[in-house]
Amino acid sequence: MSSEHPDLTFRPATEDDHRRVQARLAEWWDDWGDPHATMMRTLMLTRLFFQHFNDTSTIVEDEGGELRGFLIGFMSQDDPRAAYIHFVGIDPERRGTGVGRALYERFFGQVRERGGEVVRAITGPQNATSIRFHRSMGFSVSEPQPDYDGPGYDRVCFERVIGG
Ligand SMILES: CC(C)(COP(=O)(O)OP(=O)(O)OC[C@H]1O[C@@H](n2cnc3c(N)ncnc32)[C@H](O)[C@@H]1OP(=O)(O)O)[C@@H](O)C(=O)NCCC(=O)NCCS
Repeated sequence: MSSEHPDLTFRPATEDDHRRVQARLAEWWDDWGDPHATMMRTLMLTRLFFQHFNDTSTIVEDEGGELRGFLIGFMSQDDPRAAYIHFVGIDPERRGTGVGRALYERFFGQVRERGGEVVRAITGPQNATSIRFHRSMGFSVSEPQPDYDGPGYDRVCFERVIGG
């Protein structure tokens, strides 16, 4: 339960959440005309993320158990100071009400508990909402990095130092 969202429950993700989260990847995201965009997201959010990163990934549900948001994040295995947010999504009906901020702040707390000091994420240059959201959340925003994730897959990189 969150004090700012009394009707919502924030809890660690489980493997059972995999399918319900995947089911939202079409309707909660814009595809910007790319017919493969939903398939790409599905392949980027495979079951392993719901098997190995549960403690630092969060599911948001309303009182009826309906999925309203999620964050998939983890500590870097190579750099103990660093953490990474792989995916975040909020039900369009609940956007602009601070659910994304609450998910990020919960994650920052989990990262600090584990000794992390910096959080990173990326997005596509066309995802203006994500870029504005991350700016509001105090992240630095890089210029688009050409071919960052493969030929034609440019990415903008976000970074926020959260301190110890
Ligand atoms: C990006 C997203 C997660 C933001 O979630 P949200 O719950 O609407 O965000 P919040 O209400 O917590 O807003 C947090 C801050 O971001 C800002 N923000 C969020 N959406 C914004 C938008 N569309 N335009 C400008 N600012 C925005 C808010 O103004 C707020 O700033 P403030 O606290 O300084 O006022 C949500 O829009 C989403 O799920 N989008 C589709 C999926 C996606 O693109 N995910 C990111 C890439 S994986």
